[in-house]
Amino acid sequence: MAGPRLAVLTSGGDAPGMNAAVRAVVRNSHYHGWEPIGVYNGFHGLITGNLAVMDAGSVGDIIHRGGTVLRSGRSDAFTTEEGFRQALQTLSEQQIQAVVVIGGNGSLRGALRLAQAGVSVIGVPATIDNDIGGTEITIGFDTAVNTAVEAINRIRDTASAHDRTFIVEVMGRHSGFIALAAALAGGAESVLIPEEEPDYDEICRRIQRGYQRGKAHSIIVVAEGAADGFQAAREIERRTGLETRVTVLGHVQRGGTPTASDRILASRLGAAAVDLLVEGRHGLMVGIAAGEVRPVPLATALAETPRPDPALIRLASILGS
Ligand code: F6P
Repeated sequence: MAGPRLAVLTSGGDAPGMNAAVRAVVRNSHYHGWEPIGVYNGFHGLITGNLAVMDAGSVGDIIHRGGTVLRSGRSDAFTTEEGFRQALQTLSEQQIQAVVVIGGNGSLRGALRLAQAGVSVIGVPATIDNDIGGTEITIGFDTAVNTAVEAINRIRDTASAHDRTFIVEVMGRHSGFIALAAALAGGAESVLIPEEEPDYDEICRRIQRGYQRGKAHSIIVVAEGAADGFQAAREIERRTGLETRVTVLGHVQRGGTPTASDRILASRLGAAAVDLLVEGRHGLMVGIAAGEVRPVPLATALAETPRPDPALIRLASILGS
């Protein structure tokens, strides 16, 4: 006789490491004698009943893959009364006792709504943006930053060959975590993040100082939430007269094989989600604090707006000058 049934879904923008998290949920469920059910296309799959039992073998050969084998989505229907009611009905018809939601802010808000309706839910923070409260890091962030840095390395080669100024626009929605980390690791001259007022005078001073010092290139990382990369380039050209090229990295940052860090993080958080449910704990998000897995109430995590560390902002400014 199978144990309690636990549903797992991935929702919102995919993040590298989501598959490793699904694998951890499925394998740890089997370890505890629970029966994991994969829900396809995020919350939409709960509404339509698009789900399947997952045996331990079903998550073989996925730990290294980007994207999500469960597929993802942003479900407008789930935010309606009717859609939500249908989702609850699916859970009850399928005798599902608990749900693990893997995703970003919008997905965790959906998880909270289920929790408030009496469903046993655990959220797992997965978004390249790293913009979730209650955790020091989210699944996918490390891979996205590494992808951005790899791109900056390549741009630096061609920028140096032509003595060019480049804007590299990165994702992050309303936050500057990716931009700041990519600028620091990529050795960029300047970085524009939504959390700080842009200072074009200083950016242009740095570019000109760099060229006077014999620097062959200038790289400015721009978070999509801070400015449009092309507008930033026009502003720099207007002020300096220097031709400024733009590369928008876009969804390249969302794909690709997850880094070892993301795989380990996803494995820890996915497994911890199941451990909590087995202990009878729910309404929580599994986060990381001081390197340890720490459960926090979903509502608390969602109430926080994490900001990049001011010390890192200062460091990027000092080292890029
Ligand atoms: O939240 C992840 C993210 O990639 C953001 O960085 C970006 O702003 C957004 O999703 C893009 O969303 P979409 O895939 O719907 O274009």
